[in-house]
Amino acid sequence: MSTLWLLRHAHPLVDAGVCYGRLDVAADAARTVQAAQDFSGLLPGGSVLRHSPLRRCVQLADALLAHIPALAPNRHPDSRLQEMDFGRWEGQPWEQIPRPDIDAWAADLATCVPGGGESLAAMLQSMRMLVDRGPRDDPRQFFDVLRAMLFYIDEFPERRHHPKETELLFPRVVKAAPEVGLAVARLDRDHEYTERAVRDVQHLLLGWELLGESRRQIFQDAFKRYVDLYLAHMRLEEEEVLPAAEKNLSEADWKALDAAFEQNCDPLTGKYKPDPAYEQLFSKIVRNAPAPIGLG
Ligand SMILES: [Fe+2]
Repeated sequence: MSTLWLLRHAHPLVDAGVCYGRLDVAADAARTVQAAQDFSGLLPGGSVLRHSPLRRCVQLADALLAHIPALAPNRHPDSRLQEMDFGRWEGQPWEQIPRPDIDAWAADLATCVPGGGESLAAMLQSMRMLVDRGPRDDPRQFFDVLRAMLFYIDEFPERRHHPKETELLFPRVVKAAPEVGLAVARLDRDHEYTERAVRDVQHLLLGWELLGESRRQIFQDAFKRYVDLYLAHMRLEEEEVLPAAEKNLSEADWKALDAAFEQNCDPLTGKYKPDPAYEQLFSKIVRNAPAPIGLG
C-alpha cells in the first residue's frame, strides 16, 4: 500500500488576514528551505511529487529536489492542485468581505462559488481540462458530465444572462458612457454568435459520442473556438464595460438590473437565490467535473 504525504507551502508573503486564494504570492524562502530539509529524511525512495503550479508550491518542490535530486523525473506540476479561485474576494482582507456573502458560501460549499464573477471562467476552464483529458477508460461519465456542462451554459449564460445584458445593461452603459459603444457593439455580436455556437458544439459532442473517434477532432476544434471567444468576451466585459458601468450607473439603474438578474436563479453566480431544479444539475457537475469548478 502506498502512503500519501500532504505538504503545505511555507508562510505566504501576504498581509495577515488577506484572502489570497489563487493569487500567485511567494512563500517565505527561509521557511521553505527549512520545511524541505525537515521533511526530506522522511520520504521513501521512488516517491512521486505532485504540486500546484503556483509559485509558493513550486518553491517547496524546488527545495525538496535540492535535497533529493532523485525525485526530479517524478516531479509533476498539476493545475488541479491549485488553490481555489475566490474571484473578487482575492486580495481583499477577509474582514472587508460582506459577512452574508461568506455565510452563503460556508452554508453551501459544494455549489456556491465564492467571489462571483470568476465562476463562469472556472466552468469553461474545467470543460477545457476535461476535453484535453478525453474519455480515458470511462466514456460514459466523460460524455455525461461534458453534456451537462454545455447544457448548463446554454441554459443560463446564453439564454438568460446574455439577453438581459444586451437588453438592459448595455443600453444603460452606452447612454451613460458613450466611449464604450464600440466594445458593446462587439459584445452584442458575440452574444448572437455564441448562442448559436453553443448549440452547434452540443450537436458535435453528440456526434463524437454516438459516431465515435472520427468525429472527435471536429468537436475539439469547434469547442476550442467557442471557449477562446467566450473568454475574450468576458475579458472585454470585465476590463472595459463593467468598470464603465460601475463608474457611471446610478443606484436606480443597479436596483433595476439586480431585480432582473435575480430572476435568473443561476446557482453559478453564488449571488442570487438558485432554482432548486438547476441546483441538482449544478451539484452533478461539481461532483464529476475537474477543478476549478468541480471535485472530480
Ligand atoms: Fe456577455
